[in-house]
Amino acid sequence: MDQALIEEIRQANNIVDVVGSYIPLKRSGSSFKAQCPFHDDSHPSMMISDKKQIFKCFVCGKGGNAITFVQEYEHISFIEAVKKLAERAGITVAEEKKKTKVIKTKNQLMLQVYDDAKRYFVNNLNKFGEEVIVYLEKRGITRDAIKNYDIGYALDSFNGLKNHLLNKHYGADILKASGLFGSNNNGHYDLFRERLIFPIHSSSGKVVAFGGRKLNEEQMGGKYINSPTTDIYTKGKELYGFFLTKFDIGKMDYAIICEGYMDFLRLYSTGYTNSVASLGTALTDDQLKILKQFTKKLYMAYDGDDAGMKAALRGSLIALGFGYKVNIIELPEGEDPDSYLLKFGKESFDGLIDKALPFIDFYSSSPKIKLDKKTRIDELLQVLNTISDEIAKDLLVKEISESFKVKESSIRVGLKKNRPRFRTDVKKSREPFSVSKYTEEKFVLILAIHSKLYEHILEELDETYFYVEKYKRLFKFIEKNYERVIEISTPSAILNLTEDEDIRNELSELIYEDSPSTDIDKFITEMKHRKLLEELIIVSDQLLQSPDNQELYKKKKEIRTQIRLLGAQVIGKTLH
Ligand code: UTP
Ligand code: MN
Repeated sequence: MDQALIEEIRQANNIVDVVGSYIPLKRSGSSFKAQCPFHDDSHPSMMISDKKQIFKCFVCGKGGNAITFVQEYEHISFIEAVKKLAERAGITVAEEKKKTKVIKTKNQLMLQVYDDAKRYFVNNLNKFGEEVIVYLEKRGITRDAIKNYDIGYALDSFNGLKNHLLNKHYGADILKASGLFGSNNNGHYDLFRERLIFPIHSSSGKVVAFGGRKLNEEQMGGKYINSPTTDIYTKGKELYGFFLTKFDIGKMDYAIICEGYMDFLRLYSTGYTNSVASLGTALTDDQLKILKQFTKKLYMAYDGDDAGMKAALRGSLIALGFGYKVNIIELPEGEDPDSYLLKFGKESFDGLIDKALPFIDFYSSSPKIKLDKKTRIDELLQVLNTISDEIAKDLLVKEISESFKVKESSIRVGLKKNRPRFRTDVKKSREPFSVSKYTEEKFVLILAIHSKLYEHILEELDETYFYVEKYKRLFKFIEKNYERVIEISTPSAILNLTEDEDIRNELSELIYEDSPSTDIDKFITEMKHRKLLEELIIVSDQLLQSPDNQELYKKKKEIRTQIRLLGAQVIGKTLH
């Protein structure tokens, strides 16, 4: 959709009215406040500013404009939220494609390739896959299910898909980038051959990858092969089935997590419409971040063997660190959710869900876990040390103490011992200044956003002038989206430009703040000054190592001169 139209729609919807139509607001000075719907809020911690057309929760950090509020509150896509607000304001959005020739971006083209490939595989199944359908029916997958999940069939051919797509006039470049083909001396060939095909959908329902299962044991290659990472698909980021189940996950406020394609299909068609599959290994950070918008409660239903148990534990530990409540569904050795449901039925599986233990209970008591008690506690403490919410941490300490029958005080001592000595997120170069001196970075960004000085800061600075990760990220965001950023009319419109939640939250914070009255160049000068000082320290260090290096000596002198030149302009700061 056209950016200008999106902006028109946003401006036609006052954020105060929009938020107020979902949750009760209270006036507070020139703004409004509300109980934050994005975390378990007991006070009204969310501020809604009429003037700045922005909302920001000062407890959980969530922030955005009217569109992103609707998007996040209703768990819908950005464009769906825009359409909703258009309707609300009585603005018509033309549904049909523009008459003018649309030039497709590379990603759009890639999605089209995947959509065509999916149709091709589905068509093959109907035309040539009688035996495959027999295989599926033997496994209890009905014709209805086959249709609903777009299950397909890749022929035993090295160029079936290739020729099909070439006939559709796709260029060689896009086919190469699609990840659907391998290459050798004779050129490109189909990767998926003689396999059952499971399309993998993005959370908005577009096919972005495939999984292919062997049809017989004698076949070469792994049991499953999967699409590689491409421009439209990142391995370990999508959750299989999520686009179908996300709303029910939100409604029921828990998700059942399984490992495989077949497990998901079985769970879903048995009526567990709040399931997803992590596909293969443990849950990843990315997957957990996506899920967290819908629920913070998980039921892990992994294979009952050692490998399944290991994957479930690893995923659970990561989830615990993200603030999830995790429960473990225990399957008998040798069963997975698919085989269990086929053998014992839904009622029996319901029983397993009822009996599922909270993770820490399970971790402390299950004979299936071969680690000694001390190792298990240490693993938990390491996770606890990554949690910043002190209350959540405290509750977990109590839980661990009760489950493992260890004194709370000992656990707290253990926590200190397990504290990571090196924080991995700290940048490698030295940080010569204390954090309070980084306010320049923030003010430069605030002024750039409020007064539309984007060109100015991009001319004067680059990302190396930023020491605070989040401000560096915002600067890079502005740099990358420069052309679109300079087009925007009001600060809160910049939020229309990104789907990255962290960036939106951080931008909202800066938009919410009032502009300092100081001239932006004062802050820019300070940042330059600061960087020169850092360079000076580094060169001085290097000179200590090699005192005879004339180049270094010259460099040091140059830096000193530059510092002196800048020094005249620097406010309130001395040289050391
Ligand atoms: P499983 O080996 O448990 O297979 O792998 P499954 O899902 O139960 O499949 P069926 O019932 O034998 O047909 C679990 C998941 O791990 C991934 C797949 O996502 C699979 O569904 N996997 C497994 C691979 O990606 N590659 C493999 O070679 C094996
Ligand atoms: Mn299975």
